[in-house]
Amino acid sequence: MADLVDLRSDTLTRPTAGMREAMATAEVGDDVYGEDPTINALEAEVAALFGHEAALFAPSGSMANQIALQLLVPPGDELLCDADAHVVTYEIGAAAAYGGISSRTWPAVGADIDPETVAGMVRADGYFAVPTRAIAVEQTHNRGGGGVIPLATLRELRGVADVAGVALHCDGARIWHAHVADGVPLIEYGRLFDTMSVCLSKGLGAPVGSLVVGSAEKIERARMIRKRMGGGMRQAGILAAAGRYALAHHVDRLSEDHARAARLAEAVAPFGVLATAVRTNLVLLDLTKHALDARALAAAAREQGVLISVLGPRTARLVTYLGIDDDAVTQASTALTRVLSA
Ligand SMILES: Cc1ncc(COP(=O)(O)O)c(C=O)c1O
Repeated sequence: MADLVDLRSDTLTRPTAGMREAMATAEVGDDVYGEDPTINALEAEVAALFGHEAALFAPSGSMANQIALQLLVPPGDELLCDADAHVVTYEIGAAAAYGGISSRTWPAVGADIDPETVAGMVRADGYFAVPTRAIAVEQTHNRGGGGVIPLATLRELRGVADVAGVALHCDGARIWHAHVADGVPLIEYGRLFDTMSVCLSKGLGAPVGSLVVGSAEKIERARMIRKRMGGGMRQAGILAAAGRYALAHHVDRLSEDHARAARLAEAVAPFGVLATAVRTNLVLLDLTKHALDARALAAAAREQGVLISVLGPRTARLVTYLGIDDDAVTQASTALTRVLSA
């Protein structure tokens, strides 16, 4: 059989030869002392990309999100986000466990957010109810099938946050994909948020690393929170070098991943299993009307040499990324067509 085509996640990217070379030759120092030149350069570069004053390198997207949430929401106060958000689905209760943060969610609608619904949920300061301190959105939306929140919606949400006097956070693990899909400059996104987390280790192909982005004052506090959470690293410039390489070489090529995801979507669409229109590199499958449930589909696909993710009993996901080429998409499309039509 040909090699397995692994469509489970874009976190499966491996560093390229050029990236490994950049890592091997990176200048490093002790980052807890603030003395790693490659990390300092990466932080300055990412802050500038989003038009913010500062950024902080963190070991994972989850830690970057949780540092940001702790910056914005004091213990006992409230975060609003959607019911499918990564911060309340996959971060193992970290906002509550580490930040004492109370989270309340609007119904899962992926990237299709109604700002009025969010505005109606905000609770004012005072001792009668838990006060809302921040709203978080996810761009692109993972469980929402890689959907892109339109810039106009984000601007309305900024307005909602300003009127309510609360902060706006972006889980921008895949903000690069939104930038490429909608052509919105990163700086346009940046100006809408108080804090952002952005990942280097997904579509961009670095092995490790995310950044928290915000004001100089926030990032100073973020450094303390990161240290408290055990995220202070030493000669991690080796990792930052991979991130800098990824930013220089792997952003524009995301359009290739999007085109390949569209090809996969085209292959499975005739079986009535596409959950949402495919905008970026994620293809969400809704199997409620199909004979196979998600586990059965994943098992059958594996038999045919294709690995996919099970996100729920009748929900599965296919992901394209650096390392999934046109041949792999052809192989996967043929296999999935066979499995879905059986
Ligand atoms: C939308 C989103 N945010 C945050 C993360 C967390 O990243 P990490 O796995 O690096 O903690 C992920 C991971 O897939 C994600 O999809």
